[in-house]
Amino acid sequence: MGKRIVVGVAGGIAAYKACALIRAFTEAGHQVRVIPTESALNFVGAATFEALSGQPVHTGVFTEIPEVAHVRLGQQADLVVVAPATADLLSRAAAGRADDLLTATLLTAHCPVLFAPAMHTEMWLHPATVDNVATLRRHGAVVLDPAAGRLTGVDRGPGRLPEPDEIAALAELLLARADALPRDLDGRRLLITAGGTREPLDPVRFIGNRSSGKQGYAVARVAAQRGAEVTLIATNATALPDPAGVAMVRVGSAAELADAVAKLAPESDALVMAAAVADFRPVHVADAKMKKGADSEPSGIELVRNPDVLAGAVSARADGQLPKLSVIVGFAAETGDENGDVLFHARAKLARKGCDVLVVNAVGDGKAFEMDHNAGWLLFADGTESVLEHGSKTEMASRIVDAVAGLLRG
Ligand code: CTP
Repeated sequence: MGKRIVVGVAGGIAAYKACALIRAFTEAGHQVRVIPTESALNFVGAATFEALSGQPVHTGVFTEIPEVAHVRLGQQADLVVVAPATADLLSRAAAGRADDLLTATLLTAHCPVLFAPAMHTEMWLHPATVDNVATLRRHGAVVLDPAAGRLTGVDRGPGRLPEPDEIAALAELLLARADALPRDLDGRRLLITAGGTREPLDPVRFIGNRSSGKQGYAVARVAAQRGAEVTLIATNATALPDPAGVAMVRVGSAAELADAVAKLAPESDALVMAAAVADFRPVHVADAKMKKGADSEPSGIELVRNPDVLAGAVSARADGQLPKLSVIVGFAAETGDENGDVLFHARAKLARKGCDVLVVNAVGDGKAFEMDHNAGWLLFADGTESVLEHGSKTEMASRIVDAVAGLLRG
């Protein structure tokens, strides 16, 4: 059902990206009220915000006096999202100022408040901003970590606005679960794999699978916004935006993925193996493109087994080689068959793989792959089992990260 969302827009170059965010919310059926600051209107005109939201747009407190807009908009909102939140806006919000409609609205909001900062790296790292962010978090707001990358001009570094789709996904998560983004993973290092490996046959062909990477990316996104230092080993998930604040490592085949995990696992506290890793690869990889020939018949492809990365991490830890790695999470996409149902096969897989948690999805009939919603179970090594209710992959990710955080706390 549609919710009431206030989108605050502060005066930064990333203000244009707020348009895509507003669009995402209205397309999801929400009622959006846009409140720009006066300086935001230097970047995007009020007419654009009015057209996108279908609602009037004002910046000051001396409009809509009979409706007491500066109090009502905050009181009635289900969610307030400020994107971009500039250094100045964060400072005014942290101080509890109410000198325009947006800051007044922030003071009257009872709902979850999400700030998506965007500014130059120096401003983001300045102790004043660091303090303001800490203050806002202490007050209960969610302040996203910005993405790193190219800023205005030639500058690079943390300070980029996370992609609108990413902000929208985290906003939807807060609408579903107001307490879904606590900063409980500060100082933890998580290694996450996502996507589907490709096993080359020749320079243009490969054996692959249908994994989109969405679930693993969502886990990375949520863990990073809960304070973890996240490295995402991504394999062929090019359709997805890099999650903000996450270090990316790109690989192609199962062997490359295995090498990257072997290199990074020793310094990680948790390993989350969401990637769909090919079990087999072709024995021969042709250097040049294979030709079909004039009248040749297709020949078989000889395969050899790939290393099991998850099982390898479990046994390396058992041998004492990974003293820091305390949580290992596996994924299983299962179908029922004549031998048993999905859970029967999943329990057997948990026992076989020896990981601490197995995230189980039922697949087949268009379920799971490439979809935005999912459902399943969490199976723990101690025999505990919990249902993952049907929800977005971001909601599932937040439950998976809950499990990791719980196990890290011991
Ligand atoms: N996995 C892995 N290395 C492989 C294959 C799988 O690390 N070579 C990991 C996956 O990332 C996932 C888990 O193992 O976390 C389960 O993957 P799945 O393909 O279901 O496991 P398999 O052992 O291949 O089971 P099955 O016999 O059902 O194919």
